[in-house]
Amino acid sequence: MPAYVVVGTQWGDEGKGKIVDYLTERADIVARYQGGNNAGHTVVIKGDQYVLHLVPSGILHPGKVCIVGNGTVIDPEVLEQEIKDLERRGVGVAGRLFISENAHLIMPYHKVIDEAQEALKGANKVGTTGRGIGPAYADKTDRMGIRVGDLFNETLFREKLESILEFKNALLTRVFDRPPLKRDEIIKQYREYARGLGKYLADISSMVNDALDEGKTVLFEGAQGSMLDIDQGTYPYVTSSNTVAGGACVGIGIGPTRIDGVIGVVKAYTTRVGMGPFPTEQQGKVAEHLREAGYEYGRTTGRPRRCGWFDAPLVRRSLSVNGVTSIALTKPDVLGGMDRIQVCTAYQFNGEELRRAPENASSLGQCAPIYREMESWTENIASCRTLDDMPESAQRYILYLEAALGCPISIVSTGAARDNTIVLRDPLAP
Ligand code: GDP
Ligand code: IMO
Ligand code: MG
Repeated sequence: MPAYVVVGTQWGDEGKGKIVDYLTERADIVARYQGGNNAGHTVVIKGDQYVLHLVPSGILHPGKVCIVGNGTVIDPEVLEQEIKDLERRGVGVAGRLFISENAHLIMPYHKVIDEAQEALKGANKVGTTGRGIGPAYADKTDRMGIRVGDLFNETLFREKLESILEFKNALLTRVFDRPPLKRDEIIKQYREYARGLGKYLADISSMVNDALDEGKTVLFEGAQGSMLDIDQGTYPYVTSSNTVAGGACVGIGIGPTRIDGVIGVVKAYTTRVGMGPFPTEQQGKVAEHLREAGYEYGRTTGRPRRCGWFDAPLVRRSLSVNGVTSIALTKPDVLGGMDRIQVCTAYQFNGEELRRAPENASSLGQCAPIYREMESWTENIASCRTLDDMPESAQRYILYLEAALGCPISIVSTGAARDNTIVLRDPLAP
């Protein structure tokens, strides 16, 4: 029963989409377990770029089953559009895309509240994607959420919406000074969505458990990164779900004993979108090189990503909270052509040297990185097919990261395309 979680180990955008797409060839099912359309996962096939927000990155392999789990939050308008866009480009999803009826819906008031809350927080804002993610998860834990399944019972949907909207409109008008939302408009709109989405509903927990019993291979696709996890990340500068590998259990409905391995996607430098501590952040020439060479712009909001050097203490923390069994290292190619490369090997914090990032965000904000300087290279390594093909300094950088993290690297990605991938050891080995 091979079940592997693919998880981001930094602050998102590590290249999860590329790695999931690459591994899907060997999988039967790919399942997203948390997050919503705050995610933007890029897959490049024969020069064509696809950016997936909710649909798992396995969808570009014809015939593979893709699942959107109960742990996600779904904006039906976005999902409908994403499916349409895929089908327009010749990617059929009928009969192989399945959605949990227990996933929560992002409602129009969630988006307004997300934006209004951020505006009110001013300098203390999180820098969210503004997609209503936080307010939707807040309602879920507050037991005020509406789930995908509720769309298919008109009376129940109307009753739930009526009572919830009373609260939300009071909040919108009295606290945020915004116009109230109209119940009948929302009902009409969501009835339309129900028509489109009905055919995708399935009991996805049973589907996945049965598939694993039959010996099929399932990949669980994480969204965001571990340092954006609501519990394990740099709270409050996080997203509102459990992005770490453990989230796959609750976000799909499988037991922890089912999981055979965890592939941690590690970017060869660090990026972050939104606010919050970032010890190795760079400005000026270094940041510009990383942003331009790595095309570090948010796939969902278009915001330029904050960029900095590789942070080993941060990733060490991430490897342990996820139980990572092997690393997929992405984007070392971006470091080519730099004058010098720095790697943060430890932090200086309160007169102590830390090898692993501290658990809380305010301490992380006070950590001073201790750097080791490494040589760069001038060659483009994208076309290298083995590690030996690479210039020595690129090999040294990659092997140094592996040693510094104390975890085997199974995959080195040297470009966005499927064939820019070097396998050092089997990532799905038993
Ligand atoms: P995700 O959210 O983790 O799936 O990552 P994103 O798609 O938001 O950002 C990763 C970006 O890097 C995308 O534009 C990918 O096409 C690209 N990418 C992925 N792997 C590599 C790589 O090894 N080298 C380079 N240069 N680009 C990569
Ligand atoms: P993928 O899956 C990078 C960040 C936002 C913000 C914080 C909270 O492509 O790696 P939210 O809208 O989730 O409430 O915003 O989380 N964020 C991401 N950063 N990649 C993502 O997704 C992200 N999804 C959310 O920028 O700082
Ligand atoms: Mg992304």
